[in-house]
Amino acid sequence: MRIAVLGATGEMGSKVAQKVRRQGHELVSVSRSEGVDVYTGEGLPAAFAGADVAIDCLNMMSLSAKKASDYFGRTSRNVVDASQEAGVSRLVCMSIAGAADPEVNKMFGYYKGKAVQERVYIESGADCVVVRSTQWFQFLEVLMGMASVGPVALLPKMMMAPVSAERVASLLVETAVSGNQHEGKTLTIRGPETGYAADFVKRQLAATGNVAGKSPRWVGSAPYMGSAIARGGLVPSGGIVDETSFGEYLESLSR
Ligand SMILES: NC(=O)c1ccc[n+]([C@@H]2O[C@H](COP(=O)([O-])OP(=O)(O)OC[C@H]3O[C@@H](n4cnc5c(N)ncnc54)[C@H](OP(=O)(O)O)[C@@H]3O)[C@@H](O)[C@H]2O)c1
Repeated sequence: MRIAVLGATGEMGSKVAQKVRRQGHELVSVSRSEGVDVYTGEGLPAAFAGADVAIDCLNMMSLSAKKASDYFGRTSRNVVDASQEAGVSRLVCMSIAGAADPEVNKMFGYYKGKAVQERVYIESGADCVVVRSTQWFQFLEVLMGMASVGPVALLPKMMMAPVSAERVASLLVETAVSGNQHEGKTLTIRGPETGYAADFVKRQLAATGNVAGKSPRWVGSAPYMGSAIARGGLVPSGGIVDETSFGEYLESLSR
């Protein structure tokens, strides 16, 4: 199969691209650094020529709802249009569990952008699957980068069920190759344990001494991302529960 991975140089895209190659498929690697801009559409028709499937692992980090909605809306529409013209028969999009829920995204513009992206794919009429994942284990580093200053880390009060990014990458490739093995246009995956972000950060600090190079002496949380996120809006009630535990991830970090 010829598989186009959009955002193939990023955190998730690079894992997906590696699995695509290892499984013997032909990889079309797409990113601006490789000469294709999905936002402007430049180079996209050539990248999609002869491709069977495209996996969207694009990202742009912005807290502005306007910027995030513009980016995710425009890139997804360009992907849908270019795929129809080139005859790409299936689209798979990487998204975030809970992000499309208006209660969850009302205080977080980035999630509003992800909601726009999901809607474009789901309403496109194309054979598409939106894979909604909970936060990857590595997301704690992103949170610490934002929330830790000197000896203090004030994390958002966020109930989460972190998951292995490797397992999410495998699910994306499996879905691209075989289609959705479950009902409908969405698929959800989460990790086995549920807890607050601050608790997972404390466990990682205890195991490795730092998270993203930071070793705060005090770790706490406040509900500044909204009460829905504090209450568990990012934790899906159904879907696939991957068995890879946070403990196994911590062991892999110390190896
Ligand atoms: N982090 C989590 O826990 C988590 C959980 C669930 C879902 N997700 C979702 O997973 C997706 C991927 O996230 P990530 O952290 O892997 O992203 P990332 O590391 O920031 O990588 C983004 C990729 O997109 C490419 N890109 C950005 N704009 C582009 C454009 N206009 N045209 C072509 N390529 C472009 C980048 O390459 P260039 O800069 O070279 O263009 C890069 O390869 C996101 O949509 C995110 O919402 C994340």
